[in-house]
Amino acid sequence: MHPVERKVFLAGPKQDEENLKKILDFIHEYKGLDLSSYRQNFLYRRLRLRIFSTKAKGYFEYINLLKNSPEEYNNFLDALSINVTEFFRDPDVFEAVEKVVLPQLIARKEARGNLSLRVWSSACASGEEPYSLAILIRQSLEKKIAFLVKIWASDIDRHALEKAKKAEYPAQELKNIDSKIIKKYFISCGDNCYRPSDEIRQMVKFQVHNIFQRFPFRCLDLIFCRNLLIYLDRRRSKELFHTFSQLLNPGGYLVLGKVETLWDRGLFVPLNLRTKIYQKVD
Ligand SMILES: C[S@@+](CC[C@H](N)C(=O)[O-])C[C@H]1O[C@@H](n2cnc3c(N)ncnc32)[C@H](O)[C@@H]1O
Repeated sequence: MHPVERKVFLAGPKQDEENLKKILDFIHEYKGLDLSSYRQNFLYRRLRLRIFSTKAKGYFEYINLLKNSPEEYNNFLDALSINVTEFFRDPDVFEAVEKVVLPQLIARKEARGNLSLRVWSSACASGEEPYSLAILIRQSLEKKIAFLVKIWASDIDRHALEKAKKAEYPAQELKNIDSKIIKKYFISCGDNCYRPSDEIRQMVKFQVHNIFQRFPFRCLDLIFCRNLLIYLDRRRSKELFHTFSQLLNPGGYLVLGKVETLWDRGLFVPLNLRTKIYQKVD
């Protein structure tokens, strides 16, 4: 254990764990964020560091801080780095989606006369991921106006979703985006502030959703679940692979984070291992 963590050991090890669990229960009840599937060591370690940094004298004082200071709640989320995201995060992944996944998908749909695309960004944080997808899809369908596109974007964190719906992003968050794309798909919303155009925003429907609960839409063509599995244990990840397989159409695509791996083979085959794009087996 790191010396800093040892200092905030609030009582004996058993009592310490119970206290940390109380903080997590509070976060679940009052902030709606259920962290029970996250690896426990990871959570406890980050929590101890937050308690140390805030100089709270015990779990009760830290809970009060979380209650009264939205800033500390944000610091806590930052410490877990669970809300970190950006437009076109890992540009090579989005390039593979644009150059390989979407052309295959669109060609298959056209051949079957089914002109719809159904996409789910399943841990979308503050919206940059689904808006990036909307832009790619809009680009790919430029002249194919008959296609009906639905992008559902969900996250367990209500605060992140509020930001996603508001859709106002500081200019520096657009750093991965080509200036032509910014010109075409973003509008200015004040000093150094941009938002996706109406056309792009209307393509994305946001909703609060815990990924372990039933998702109401099926027959999906593409699921993004990026940078969430890293926090989950194997049992929970396996559960998700099964859910995704059930929700996807045959031949549908699953995109994971670059450091995540679909180790439960059988349901999917890798389309591109470097970018962690998988295809559901028929
Ligand atoms: C690191 S962010 C990933 C954002 C985006 N997918 C990306 O890769 O840039 C992880 C997101 O997972 C969300 N999350 C955590 N547990 C969740 C759950 N059980 N159901 C849905 N979302 C969850 C967090 O709130 C956070 O916004």
